[in-house]
Amino acid sequence: MEKIILTGLRPTGNLHLGHYFGACQNYIKLQEEHDFYLEIADVQALTDNFNNPEKVYKNVFEITKDLLSIGLDPNKVNFFIQSKIPEIAELTVFFSNLVTVARLERNPTVKNEINQKKELFGTNGESITYGFLGYPVSQAADITVFGGSLIPVGEDQLPLLEQCREIVRKFNSIYGEILIEPQQVLSNTTRVKGLDGNEKMGKSLGNAIYLIDAEETITKKIMGAVTDPQKIKKDDIANPNVCMVYYYHNLVNNKEDIKKVCSECKSGERGCVQCKKELIKAMNDFLKPIQEKRKYYDSHPEIVTDILIKGTKEAQKKATAKMEEIKKAMKIDYFE
Ligand code: TRP
Repeated sequence: MEKIILTGLRPTGNLHLGHYFGACQNYIKLQEEHDFYLEIADVQALTDNFNNPEKVYKNVFEITKDLLSIGLDPNKVNFFIQSKIPEIAELTVFFSNLVTVARLERNPTVKNEINQKKELFGTNGESITYGFLGYPVSQAADITVFGGSLIPVGEDQLPLLEQCREIVRKFNSIYGEILIEPQQVLSNTTRVKGLDGNEKMGKSLGNAIYLIDAEETITKKIMGAVTDPQKIKKDDIANPNVCMVYYYHNLVNNKEDIKKVCSECKSGERGCVQCKKELIKAMNDFLKPIQEKRKYYDSHPEIVTDILIKGTKEAQKKATAKMEEIKKAMKIDYFE
């Protein structure tokens, strides 16, 4: 059977290099090989942004434009909006019987997020909502209602996929072999460090370079990036492996230049300011084609909406068919 690729993104902000290298770059390759469904997960975004509907609304379009700009082809990828497919919500309810609250509370990704969102969920997670705790259940419904079997994601999503597989196994053992157990597809780079050297690039950490960042913003951000603290003077010998500037050269520059940066840094022939300037140029060259494409979609919002309408229709077909099968298996198909 033809394998289906499914992935999702929460529309809570623009894409940054962490998204790009951690997961999205992989999509570009995969769209050539399989039937691809890409969910703009607005319902999931609302689990921790329920008090900010404008933000989610705006970012549905922002993230779709970002994804189109990096080279996803709307003729190959079905872009769809989660809330437009009611079967996902329906299946979430059925799945909620197959998972314990304790298991959700142990999910490392959820635990981590609760810890980061103290303002919303309390210092010890005492104000956690039913909806947020349960979003892995809804994500399992996202994946299975479309028959998704290959899931390109970043490393942080692995516990959610494990949880999904557990739900699938439980469902299949009770109601029959109806659902597919999904497998992850990881990128070569699974996590991108922040400008400050933090292990993770993230919006809330304030250490990200966005695909839409203007040249002046890039310049300011890279000039402030963390370098080897041992290097004080221009001709000091330094260790590129602890320098964020070298780290980003590796992501966006060509092999030859990367080698040069490394050897000159080690031998003290290269100052950090020059090195940063070269990175700024390489970064802007890297982002330029993406930003050019983005300009096109910015000036044609109706095309973006049409892409979402078309993709949502395709996704709906899949969900309708699968839901019929599911309801039959669960003996809740009483009459037409
Ligand atoms: N949880 C994912 C994130 O935060 C988004 C997501 C929603 C997703 N549904 C999905 C990812 C289905 C993979 C498959 O980025």
